[in-house]
Amino acid sequence: MQQLWSDIDAYIESTLIPEDPILLQTLKNTEDKGFPDHLAVAANQGMLLQMLIQMNQCKRVLELGTFAAYSTLWLARALPEDGYILTIEGRDTHAALAQENIDRAALSQQIELKVGRAADILKGLAADVEPFDFIFIDADKQSYPEYLELCLKYSRSGTLIFLDNVIRAGDIINPDNVKPSIEGIRDMYRLMQNHPRLLSSTALQTVGSKGHDGFAMAIVK
Ligand code: DHB
Ligand code: MG
Repeated sequence: MQQLWSDIDAYIESTLIPEDPILLQTLKNTEDKGFPDHLAVAANQGMLLQMLIQMNQCKRVLELGTFAAYSTLWLARALPEDGYILTIEGRDTHAALAQENIDRAALSQQIELKVGRAADILKGLAADVEPFDFIFIDADKQSYPEYLELCLKYSRSGTLIFLDNVIRAGDIINPDNVKPSIEGIRDMYRLMQNHPRLLSSTALQTVGSKGHDGFAMAIVK
């Protein structure tokens, strides 16, 4: 099925996603430097991120897990002139690549990249920091519950929290799979369930060029 899913993603991309030299350059640089491309979102998923931001007229965006900054650039594209993205990356090699891709995109005035463990950086933000309007959690899956809880501290009523990789080809319902990353995602579902600070939550499975995975999303009460 993977070939069909990839072909359909290519079809969607060729029909609905305008070619964007900056985004293409980011993917090419990532590949040229030998980084794996499966860690990045697909173009049609990047467009979804962009549309969610446009729909909610977001100005302040928080991203956990920058990788090559491909998703970051999709998020940045959607923002008005006075928009701001804080993106956090834990790995030095990924952060160096991300900063290069951000600088090349000439959007760096809107994007602040911080390097370090996302939980530590979040805990270090000023308590009175202006809340974020949209939060994309795409960092190490093991820490998703901790990230979700920390992100709530920097959210307002109506903030949309969007999380990548919450299906993992079905591993989340395989009881034999007790990898920390999978347990982290299961704990995230449990935490979302009836969380007093969340208005509503759901998750969607996706198939495509990145395989079988999915997004979870929650609106802050
Ligand atoms: C992995 C991480 C991601 O964020 C993703 O979208 C796909 C794969 C990984 O760590 O394998
Ligand atoms: Mg991801």
